[in-house]
Amino acid sequence: MANEDLEDLPGVGPATAEKLQENGFDSYQGIAVASPGELSNTADIGESSAADIINAARDAADIGGFETGATVLERREQIGKLTWNVDEVDELLGGGVETQSITEVYGEFGAGKSQVTHQLAVNVQLPAEYGGLEGSAIFVDSEDTFRPERIDDMVRGLPDETLEAAMELHELVEEGEADAGDEDLLEALVESVLDKIHVAKAFNSNHQILLAEKAQELASGSQDDDFPVRLLCVDSLTAHFRAEYVGRGELAERQQKLNKHLHDLMRVGDLNNTAVVVTNQVASNPDSFFGDPTQPIGGNILGHTSTFRIYLRKSKGNKRIVKLVDAPNLADGEAVMRVDGDGLIDE
Ligand SMILES: Nc1ncnc2c1ncn2[C@@H]1O[C@H](COP(=O)(O)OP(=O)(O)OP(=O)(O)O)[C@@H](O)[C@H]1O
Ligand SMILES: [Mg+2]
Repeated sequence: MANEDLEDLPGVGPATAEKLQENGFDSYQGIAVASPGELSNTADIGESSAADIINAARDAADIGGFETGATVLERREQIGKLTWNVDEVDELLGGGVETQSITEVYGEFGAGKSQVTHQLAVNVQLPAEYGGLEGSAIFVDSEDTFRPERIDDMVRGLPDETLEAAMELHELVEEGEADAGDEDLLEALVESVLDKIHVAKAFNSNHQILLAEKAQELASGSQDDDFPVRLLCVDSLTAHFRAEYVGRGELAERQQKLNKHLHDLMRVGDLNNTAVVVTNQVASNPDSFFGDPTQPIGGNILGHTSTFRIYLRKSKGNKRIVKLVDAPNLADGEAVMRVDGDGLIDE
């Protein structure tokens, strides 16, 4: 958010706006949930001025008030489920990755987190009958992991029937004329799928936060399109934050920024009926203050915000254990899948 917008708040001049900005209070939403004491310390202003600023930010931020159970139900009825392409996993998740939720996929290097995000970016574009959401994807790439070649592999790896239905949905053929064996059609489908994945590289954590705001614009602007944005992937959510905020003293600031970022992502999910999938590594160094090497980075904030947490574990060869951890309406449990040249496949 620009300084000028912060200066619209009562009693905020250029100097205060600058201080707020520097300390990560760079959105109405972030300010709205701050405490007067915190803001007063940060911006060198009195507590009552801080309270005025917070109240104004609350009005401007549209933090949301109460809504009726009926409205909540109506919105929940719109929830879509996106297939992983793996029956056992879809079953574990109660149908697939949900829209209007954040799903966190965590695990060590090579566990297959990036493969999952790639596969979902393909699957989201499939007809609903085949577990897709007939939508497009946004891919925020913080580790330079996005590979169009993998998308190509994964499209070609889909079952013939799914491919043919996708060719029709993508309007590459007249109804009834799709042919999964036709190389020209396959190539056209790969191209069409790649066209519907909006990729942006995040160069650092602030840039990543900005990209989440852009994602909201892109997603909301697409809702009347043929393939509205139905999936937002952030791969990896935490890498930049982890690299930039290294000392113990910086932990609070890191968590505050991560918290804001997650709320921005949640908003994209809620407002656009979009699935949000973020990846996260486990702490690889047991001596580090990130703690337990089987626990995801980011601590509690991430734990409370992500609605579904999935722990991906390497097993023999290309076998992977998919474990559901702390899901609200589902039993914890495990599923098995494989990651191969064609993407995610049944065990
Ligand atoms: N073309 C391919 N053919 C077969 N398997 C592949 C292919 N590409 C990737 N894989 C499998 O996926 C694994 C890499 O998974 P991925 O990159 O998703 O890991 P990650 O969890 O994202 O790791 P990191 O934490 O390093 O980002 C490889 O070890 C391999 O098993
Ligand atoms: Mg990865």
